[in-house]
This record gives sequence, C-alpha cells and structure tokens, in this order.
Amino acid sequence: MKRILILMFLALASCCFAIEHTMELLISSEEIAAKINEAAEQINTDYQGKNLTVLMVMKGAICVTSDLIRKITIPFQLEYLKASSYGNNGMVGGELTILGLDRLQIEGRDILIVDDIYETGNTILGVIEKLKVKNPKSIKTFMLLVKDVPRKTIYRPDYVLFDIPNRFVIGYGLDYKEYYRGLPGIFAFIDDKPPF
Ligand code: IMP
Ligand code: MG
Repeated sequence: MKRILILMFLALASCCFAIEHTMELLISSEEIAAKINEAAEQINTDYQGKNLTVLMVMKGAICVTSDLIRKITIPFQLEYLKASSYGNNGMVGGELTILGLDRLQIEGRDILIVDDIYETGNTILGVIEKLKVKNPKSIKTFMLLVKDVPRKTIYRPDYVLFDIPNRFVIGYGLDYKEYYRGLPGIFAFIDDKPPF
C-alpha cells in the first residue's frame, strides 16, 4: 500500500513537472482582472439605458465572460452560442460550426458578443452574420485576445483586452485539444511545441 502511494505521488509530481515545463506564462490572472475592470467600466457607461444582452461564445469565452459579468453593474441579459472551428484538431483551424442560434431572442436588443480570441476573424464575422437576421438593435464585439496575424478583413473588435503575438495560446478558457481551459492565466507552449 505504501509503495503504491509513493508511486502515485511520483506519477503526479512528474505530471505537474511536465506541465510546468512545457509552457510559459504570457498574461497573468492579475493582469486579466485589471483589464476586465477597465473594460467593464467602459461597458457600464456605453450601455447605460440600453437593452444589453451579453452573448457568450462557448466554450472559449467561459472564463472572461464569467469574470466580466460580475463587474457589469447595469441591467443585462446573458445568452450563449457554441462556435467551434478548431475542435480536436489542436492548432489547425477547421470549418466553423455555430450551435444555439434557434432559441436566441435578440430582436431590438443591444448585443455584446464576448469571445476568447480573434485570429482570422472567421468565427466572429460568421456569428455576426447569423445574428443580423434576428434584427438586434446593435451588435458589438468584446475580445479577450487579438492575435497579430495577417487577415483578409479590416474588422477590429470594439473592446479588446490584449493584443498578442502570433502564438498558439491556452488557458483562461482557451484550449488545446479541449485541454488546459482551466489554467488561470494565458500561456503558450515553449517553442510553440505542444506536449501531445
Ligand atoms: P478565428 O475564427 O480564426 O478568428 O479564430 C477564432 C477561434 O479559433 C477562437 O474563438 C478559438 O476558439 C480558436 N483559436 C484561435 N487561436 C487560438 C489559440 O491560439 N488558442 C486556442 N484557440 C484558438
Ligand atoms: Mg472560440
């Protein structure tokens, strides 16, 4: 029994060691919290007297949305969509699928779409197109991260917390093959090499 416990401890320790040494911190949870506070103040001003609906794009926006909505002090409704293009492909983008549009009631409302990261723009521009047919009063976008990549569109999200270099990032909602979403900050793999 004692030997099994020791072996289990060693396995766990080597696992933690491996995770720590395959990634580097780019943005800490404290830096994220400070930016969210600033952005929420701006949103509280910009949406005063409006019919705000915060629309979370699952799954990546889960952490930023849950922190942001606790700093919004004006009335708002919370809705969600599920959009995916990476899936289990890891770092390779695939075809965009959007789920949850049918049940959305947003006619006449001021929509603030919250998403994790803006890369090519396909996801957010695809979501905006689908929402427009439901006649919202306005649509704006809020991004945790904007990646520095060449893109075909000149569209820039309305609220941006951080501009980052062109690296694959994980944590605070963002995944690699559906893992790492629970890391408290934004991380990148060392030398951009994923561990699996
Ligand atoms: P876009 O459609 O190319 O703008 O990419 C946006 C979506 O791709 C995001 O909502 C993420 O789900 C995913 N994505 C893009 N870059 C990363 C990354 O560095 N890490 C994790 N997911 C990413
Ligand atoms: Mg996403």
